[in-house]
Amino acid sequence: MRSEAMDEFVERVRSESDILSVVASYVPLKRKGNRYWGCCPFHQEKTPSFSVVPDQGFFYCFGCHAGGNVFKFLSLIENVSYFEAIKLQAEKLNISLPQQEKTGQELAKEQRIADLRKIQEMARDFFHSCLTRTRYGIPAKAYFASRDIREDTIAAFQLGFAPDAYEKLHDAFVRRGISESLLLESGLVLKKQSGSGVYDRFRNRVMIPIADERGHVVGFGGRVLDEGLPKYLNSPETVLFNKRRLLFGLDRAHQAIRQEGYAIVVEGYMDAISVYAAGVQNVVASLGTAFTLEQCRKLLRYAPEIYFCYDSDDAGQKATLRALGIVRETGAQVKVLIVPDGKDPDEFIRKHGAAAFQALTKTALPLAEYQIQYVLQHTDYSTLEGKSSALSQVLPVLKESVNAVELNAYVARLTRTLGIDEGIIQSEIRRYSGQPQNAVQTQRAPLRQAVRQVDNAVCRAGRIVIRQVWQDVGALAHLTAMVPLEQFPNRLQGMILRFFAERLQRSEAVQDALAINELGEEAAAELSRALVEDPGGQDLMTAYEDCVRVLRREYLKQLYDEHRLRADAMEREGQDTAALQELAESQRIQKEIKEMDDL
Ligand code: CTP
Ligand code: MN
Repeated sequence: MRSEAMDEFVERVRSESDILSVVASYVPLKRKGNRYWGCCPFHQEKTPSFSVVPDQGFFYCFGCHAGGNVFKFLSLIENVSYFEAIKLQAEKLNISLPQQEKTGQELAKEQRIADLRKIQEMARDFFHSCLTRTRYGIPAKAYFASRDIREDTIAAFQLGFAPDAYEKLHDAFVRRGISESLLLESGLVLKKQSGSGVYDRFRNRVMIPIADERGHVVGFGGRVLDEGLPKYLNSPETVLFNKRRLLFGLDRAHQAIRQEGYAIVVEGYMDAISVYAAGVQNVVASLGTAFTLEQCRKLLRYAPEIYFCYDSDDAGQKATLRALGIVRETGAQVKVLIVPDGKDPDEFIRKHGAAAFQALTKTALPLAEYQIQYVLQHTDYSTLEGKSSALSQVLPVLKESVNAVELNAYVARLTRTLGIDEGIIQSEIRRYSGQPQNAVQTQRAPLRQAVRQVDNAVCRAGRIVIRQVWQDVGALAHLTAMVPLEQFPNRLQGMILRFFAERLQRSEAVQDALAINELGEEAAAELSRALVEDPGGQDLMTAYEDCVRVLRREYLKQLYDEHRLRADAMEREGQDTAALQELAESQRIQKEIKEMDDL
């Protein structure tokens, strides 16, 4: 894929991209000197540790160690690949991709998909103007008003109306040069059963555009204005529209999901719209199908936790349990938000207002708690059989309890509620888990134990050196003479510097934005840190020389240890001459260290 044209393209996009304005469109930033600070969008925090240095073109979070250039930022925040992020940015800057060789078939397919995208977008605009700008839209406007859906919400979600006629959309689109076959493929029109010709699929319905994560419309849900059936009519599955994979609202919600650390999943379009309009923006809807594994994985890319907030009726509760079953195997953390009054979140908000719903989100129940409540509510445990049935239903839940404290609390509650002896419950749990006495109560190991290298003066010196080399690769020769890059004290920094050296050797630019992505996540973040971190008050050049000294001293210390160890080993093996040589070498190194310290 690399070619001169591609390199030029990437370099042009990079040089025309202003990291500050890109980041600032997602994260509020405050200026301090030549850097900007804000709360990191990639982890939860209250005091800013996320920093952007526009002069360097890099960002770094001192809290979660995310870092990189403008493309890395976009790829993280938009959840796209590095190269897709470059293309996104190119699109925004109106820079076109270099032409690549493609087969005619590939080109035709791409064109078809582009046309299908275009037509869905046109349909969204068509329905939206029918609602907002024509007389056909009057009843639909009244309908939205009756559901307390405000005009700003209509505008934000680009809601629309499909007129009560068989040919309005068809005729309008044909007039604009859209072919009938494309219209059919898009699902916006259908073939007549008898005779020839086609007709509009969506008629006399309020229209809800459904977009993919990036905000491209891929289909629609259409709702009747009255009690007619079917209540909702959706676009058919097309190359663009895959219900199992889509989540309604994700294009608007993903930033809030990342920020809050969890996503709220509701059942209906209208629920998602209401919840969003109520100021809770980390909400998506699962498009009327059962929640799928694909949808779950998609959400987990943004946050580790999911709250299910399904309808309060029986069907909704069953759907919740099904969804919980799906989610379990992915390791997601799950909570359940019970809507205490009204059929669904939308009704709750209409009855009790936005603030009440916001408060409700704080009352989400942990998974086990919800399941135990569900069993207790749906089992008649007044009889012995009922008690036994309730107990056997909750055993799987108890087995998954996070820790002993939690487990004991559940056991105590079941003892009280079911009126069963605590000892019996405990022994049932053991029997169910098939584990020896007390094993159930041992805690699970902590999920994530972030292992980070200790950061010390040597690491800081390494970063200042990297910063210098980044600005002037000429410095690399001197550095390599002082500290061999293969034995660089810090592993990540060594990787970065060797990467620079390799590029230099091939006469390739060190600052190449595509190549940086080959560095790997951790090393790229360390490079960002080197570029973003304040190197301290000193003049960079003298600081640089001090740092090289610090690094050389560390290198010599390691070298000294190695020779000493080898000398010991050889002596043990009786290789006395070799051992002496090693010892002499170690002494020579020790002398150099001492001279450095005396300086
Ligand atoms: N659904 C569907 N087709 C239907 C009924 C429902 O696709 N015939 C999907 C829709 O995505 C809908 C979701 O299932 O949003 C939930 O359905 P339901 O609870 O019946 O609708 P509500 O969201 O409560 O819709 P409303 O408030 O508009 O009545
Ligand atoms: Mn509803």
